Amino acid sequence: MKNILQRLIQAFGPSGREEEIRSVLREELAGSGLELKTDVLGNLIATKAGRGGRLMIAAHMDEIGLLVTHIDDKGFLRFTPIGGQDPKNLLGSRVIFANGIMGTIGGEKIKDAKEFKLEKLYIDIGATAAAEAKELVAIGSMAVFVPHFTCQGNRIIGKSLDNRAGCALLLAVIRDLPPVDYQIDFVFSVQEEVGLRGARTAAYHLEPHLALAVDVTRTGDTPESGPMAVELGGGPAIKVKDTSLISHPRVRGLLEKAAKERDIPFQLEVLLRGGTDAGSIHLSRAGVPSGVISIPTRYVHSPAEMIDYRDLTRAATLLSAFMQQDQLFMAP
Ligand code: CO
Ligand code: ZN
Repeated sequence: MKNILQRLIQAFGPSGREEEIRSVLREELAGSGLELKTDVLGNLIATKAGRGGRLMIAAHMDEIGLLVTHIDDKGFLRFTPIGGQDPKNLLGSRVIFANGIMGTIGGEKIKDAKEFKLEKLYIDIGATAAAEAKELVAIGSMAVFVPHFTCQGNRIIGKSLDNRAGCALLLAVIRDLPPVDYQIDFVFSVQEEVGLRGARTAAYHLEPHLALAVDVTRTGDTPESGPMAVELGGGPAIKVKDTSLISHPRVRGLLEKAAKERDIPFQLEVLLRGGTDAGSIHLSRAGVPSGVISIPTRYVHSPAEMIDYRDLTRAATLLSAFMQQDQLFMAP
């Protein structure tokens, strides 16, 4: 899974511009035997046909980024965030555009820390004038953090582990698909970071009877991080609640049962701010019982996020065990 994860991280894919990451995922799914299709918004759907019910499993393939809004006379670029961006994480970080142009993020001089906002930051691509900058980028061009990937013991440090880690997990489960009769639609969704958008149309189209999202979550195990009962290395997290979803008790119960039966260590997750694709999916049509498997992640939405590889492999085991639970599709 490490090699696949590294490959996924290299791919460009801010929300709304997922072409490159989608084509990498398509290549990885080529020999899977699943039916592949890309829908109108760009979601990549890999279907295992079956009978008796439909399970949707979603992992978003998009990543946060920056979109150029203005180019000044000297060639400095102003930007608006694509997804949640914290100015603290941006200053001094390097970004890359779809065409390979790189920039560093600088900031205006400020007198008061309160003034430190995204509007005070700019991207410097080394241009000497507006005309030169405009040959390299345009209004509306998107950039993402420069890819990197480090494996150190059990820990992995990388860019866009949110949510390339979830995508790698789905690929691993697809590669070793348990023998089940029902239909499974694996959805590599678009535009999660700007409001869980791709999952919304995918769920409407697929009409699942049951759904899971696989995504990262925050942890409470770093200095002064604020209380949160999730830590790196403690096992996959089973979501109880975030701002987009209260997990369906039956789905959450099945996840906990699967973990206990297989002796997979797990953590219960209450995320105070943030959501996942399950937030959109569970409100689709007449409602879909939904839950989430989360990968504990430090420094979410920074240029260098960190996970524990064991959490990732155990999350894959948990997903596979969940898929093999009896009575998945019982009435609510
Ligand atoms: Co995110
Ligand atoms: Zn995410």
